[in-house]
Amino acid sequence: MKKADLIIHSAAQLCRVPPHDGGPQRGCQLGDLGVIEDGAVACEAGRVVAVGSTEALRQAWWAPTELDASGCVVCPGFVDPHTHAVWAGERADEFVQRVRGATYQEIMASGGGIMSTVRATRSASVAQLVDASRPRLDRMLTHGTTTVEVKSGYGLSVDDELKILDAVHCLDVSHPATLVPTFLGAHAVPEEYQGRAESYVDLVVEEMLPAAAERFPEVSFCDVFCDQGAFTLEQSRRVLERAKALGFGLKIHADEFEPLGGTGLAVELGAMSADHLVCTPDEEIELLGQSDTVAVSLPATPFGLAHHQYTPAQAILEAGGILALASDCNPGTAWNESMTFIVALACRYMHITPAQALVAATLNAAHAVGLGDRVGSLEQGRDADILILDLPDVRHLGYRFGSNPVKHVIKTGEVVVSR
Ligand code: NIG
Ligand code: FE
Repeated sequence: MKKADLIIHSAAQLCRVPPHDGGPQRGCQLGDLGVIEDGAVACEAGRVVAVGSTEALRQAWWAPTELDASGCVVCPGFVDPHTHAVWAGERADEFVQRVRGATYQEIMASGGGIMSTVRATRSASVAQLVDASRPRLDRMLTHGTTTVEVKSGYGLSVDDELKILDAVHCLDVSHPATLVPTFLGAHAVPEEYQGRAESYVDLVVEEMLPAAAERFPEVSFCDVFCDQGAFTLEQSRRVLERAKALGFGLKIHADEFEPLGGTGLAVELGAMSADHLVCTPDEEIELLGQSDTVAVSLPATPFGLAHHQYTPAQAILEAGGILALASDCNPGTAWNESMTFIVALACRYMHITPAQALVAATLNAAHAVGLGDRVGSLEQGRDADILILDLPDVRHLGYRFGSNPVKHVIKTGEVVVSR
């Protein structure tokens, strides 16, 4: 018998979420869970060492610690590949204005929106940012998110952007979740540059990006908000081309409000992901479908804004695209920390099944943050990031919403949440 540290056994359904040809699940192949009934998984030194039926696994392995998952679904930890989870302050006043009929872009144009959070974030210290953000990561973890991408973008000056990346780093080393930092200096044109967007882009490409690359070599991605009221296609191209030359992987906020060509740009530049994709034109969906750029959909954003248009998931899948899901957790459009709620929205408004949504929120999401070989699937050798969900089968994920189905969270082999 071989010894493991932990065995989870007797799962009603164990979802392996197998990679396809070693990669994500593309197009209409999305939704292959690789379910093992009465399944078990063994973990050793933070990794998955065996997966199979409870009977077969127990013949070969024993462990001093066991978790009984009878009546439960076992699946990989959620990967949330798009968040703005580090910020100071809040914008409940804007929520009330929007409920009363103001639009997100009207509030932004009148100096609120992203700039409101920028003002609060600029006046916070690294320690204050860490203290404000840690409870959000705690709640994400409690809801099953074990890997979280976090963007800067509420600093918009060299020092304040670096300060946010500092806070992300502090949280990464002190929180059980894995944090993936992304530089988003081009999130908005700050008020001191109003009417001088090009000069602000100069600052981003000439000073911020090189400073971020030098100080934080672990920051692997650069993002840009390419939309009406934010950055034009040409400005976005300048930022991303410079970032690419400096060795960053690329991401883009595209087609959230207006289609400016950002998705085509992402494909052209070989971006890791193109995110939002609410009003993406058909031609660009075709390009995306033929590329390795992951389509990251954020259904909490239209929901949070009470809009009625969502990512056209079927068209993306029919084109052969790699679909992933994320929370977009931010203080403006979508303060949501629960990936199971994202799944519930995606099933209803993007018309994907719970099985498809689960793959989009694990394996495919891992590919959107460059961790497709490490997390998002319960394959031998991967990080033992595992959820035990108090649900009798996977169809209950998305079917039920508003309560938390997570019973246990295991992060690199350690039980970090038990409820
Ligand atoms: O993804 N679109 C840009 N950024 C966020 C909103 C940020 C904010 O309003 O603070 C988003 O929706
Ligand atoms: Fe965003």
